Amino acid sequence: MTYSRRKILGLIGGGTILAASAAAGGFLATRSPDKALAPWALAGQYPDLRMRALSFALLAPNPHNRQPWVAALQGADTVILYRNSALNLPETDPNERQLTIGMGCFIELMVQGAAQEGTGVELELFPKGTDKNAPVVVARFTGEATPEPLFQQVLIRHTNRSLYNQSAVSSSEIAVIVNSPGQVQGAVIAASSKKTMVSDIQKLASAAIAIEANTPRTHAESIHLTRIGKAEIEANPDGISLGGPLMDSLGALGILNRVSALDPNSSAFATAITMQTDAVATTPAFFWVTTPANKRTDQIAAGRAWVRAHLQATALGLSVQPISQALQEYAEMDMPYRKIHSMLAQQGETVQMLGRLGYGPSQSPAPRWPLETRLKNA
Ligand SMILES: Cc1cc2nc3c(=O)[nH]c(=O)nc-3n(C[C@H](O)[C@H](O)[C@H](O)COP(=O)(O)O)c2cc1C
Repeated sequence: MTYSRRKILGLIGGGTILAASAAAGGFLATRSPDKALAPWALAGQYPDLRMRALSFALLAPNPHNRQPWVAALQGADTVILYRNSALNLPETDPNERQLTIGMGCFIELMVQGAAQEGTGVELELFPKGTDKNAPVVVARFTGEATPEPLFQQVLIRHTNRSLYNQSAVSSSEIAVIVNSPGQVQGAVIAASSKKTMVSDIQKLASAAIAIEANTPRTHAESIHLTRIGKAEIEANPDGISLGGPLMDSLGALGILNRVSALDPNSSAFATAITMQTDAVATTPAFFWVTTPANKRTDQIAAGRAWVRAHLQATALGLSVQPISQALQEYAEMDMPYRKIHSMLAQQGETVQMLGRLGYGPSQSPAPRWPLETRLKNA
């Protein structure tokens, strides 16, 4: 995640500190978290087709970058995929809905990885029910499949939290995202760049961001998963990573830390909110995914549809950021949750994902744990 110099000054609450950090930055600037980014270079570099497909799948978007997937290779052609519930987000995702959506994103990229080599994948979702230790899917790599053109975007798809520029998203771009071929059954993608709709979503999303930040337990969940600077990112290549030379220096000097970010009276706290709401305010279009019901299988379908739409946006040169606060299921979020549903869904439907869509600066990849750390014996 990269931030402007102005924002970072706000975040640390003063200019005097900058001199010290700039001095430290002199040598820290060259320290990019290479180990944490290695899985991006290793994608596709395994002898077994299933491992190659999994090595692309782990680049999937997923909430707070928890990467809760665990894969077991069985026999010559099967992958049994689990979700590690030790990596749950009990405050912001109490129903494990978003984590399940992330598993759907993973499954879609695994299927695309196999198709890229001409192999099909038969999926049996939740074959033993939805208990937390039961498999999410049994995937059999068999038969033939045609490569998916969107696969070309897998290595360049990133979440872009920056301010977007003033270029509009055209109605033909919206149409491509909404109608792109290979739609996932059971999940509907919609989008809008209409001024009134965009402005209504901006207001609601910003209110929801403030609620999440001002609810101590939900805010703390995110702060505890924040990795500041290279050493923390390399040690835990997950969560919300604040990388780049300046963050690296500020973390190393102890200037930017979790304690100040938790204090609602600190400038770090205020800036963390405005950084997000400023980004929302620059957004020229939004897109979202709805499902008719809210079963685990609906959530998997939503994840598959979401990552396809994100890849399609990437192919068009557009930036994307999921913006999930208003969709979260805890008491303090009740009002925005109801409002977003009345705006974007029919009675009984669930809005599974909502995202910013626009033109932002180029974005670097987010860290990943190596595939080897996500394998277990069948
Ligand atoms: C279900 C879901 C919800 C997410 N919600 C948010 C969000 O509210 N804000 C945000 O900035 N990113 C959100 N993300 C994006 C993840 O943080 C991101 O995918 C992860 O950090 C990995 O980064 P990458 O997408 O650049 O590879 C969400 C992703 C998923 C799948």
